Amino acid sequence: MRVIVVKDYAELSRNAARMVAGQIYLKPDCVLGLATGSTPLGMYWELTQDYRDSGLNFAEVTTFNLDEYLGLAPDDPQSYHYYMQQNLFAKVNIKPEHTHIPTGQPQDIATACREYDAAIKAAGGIDLQVLGIGKNGHIGFNEPDLKFEATTHMVKLDEETIAANARFFKSAAEVPRFALSMGIKNIMYARKIVLLASGEEKAEAIYRTVYGKITPVTPASILQLHQDVTVIVEEGAAGLLLEGRAQS
Ligand code: PGA
Repeated sequence: MRVIVVKDYAELSRNAARMVAGQIYLKPDCVLGLATGSTPLGMYWELTQDYRDSGLNFAEVTTFNLDEYLGLAPDDPQSYHYYMQQNLFAKVNIKPEHTHIPTGQPQDIATACREYDAAIKAAGGIDLQVLGIGKNGHIGFNEPDLKFEATTHMVKLDEETIAANARFFKSAAEVPRFALSMGIKNIMYARKIVLLASGEEKAEAIYRTVYGKITPVTPASILQLHQDVTVIVEEGAAGLLLEGRAQS
C-alpha cells in the first residue's frame, strides 16, 4: 500500500484526477471503476476541466460504478445514476453505452447481480478502481460483516451508513435501506486501486485500513493484500496515521 498524505481536499482531488487521467492517457480504452459520495466530487470536477482544457479523451473509456440504491429510478436526484450524469458523464465525451451502474430497479436481483459481474468480465476487468471509504470502513456498500462478499450482491445498509448519507436526502427515513454493490472480489480483481479519504471522521477507518487486522469487520482492510493500492488521504483523515495510533 502506498499512502500519500496531502494538505487539503483540493490537493487530494488533483492527485486523484491525475491518476485517472494518467490511466486514460496510458490506455485510452481502459476500464475505470468509479465511486460516488462526497469524496470524489472534486476529482470528477478536475476531470471535466481536463476534458475541456486539455482534451482528455473519454471516447473509448468504459466505466463500472460500485453501487446503487435499490428502489431509485435513474432520474431520481438521489440515485447514483443521476450523480454520475451530473458530475461526469454529461460533461465529457464518454459514450453512454460504455457506462455501467448497478440497476436500482432490478426485475430479479440475482440476475441483475450476475449480469453486472459478467459485464465487468466481458469488458476485460477493471484497470483502475476509485474508492471512497465509509466511517465504518466500508468500500462500495460492502458493510462490516462476518465474511467478505465476493461478487455483486444485495446489501442491507448499516444504520451508520444511512445516518451518514441522510445529508443527501430530506430525512434519514427517505434513505433507501438496501442497495446493490460490487463485492470485494470485484474490487480486488482491479489491476490498480486508488482509495480517497478526506475529513477527521475518516481517520479511524483509514488507520484500521492501513495498519489494522485484515477482517470483514473493516472491509477496506482487505486492500492490504492487493499489490497496487494508492491511498490518497488529506491531513484530517491522516491524523491517526501520522500519530501512529488508533482511537480505540
Ligand atoms: P463520502 O462516502 O465520500 O460521501 O464520505 C464515502 C463512502 O461512504 O464510501
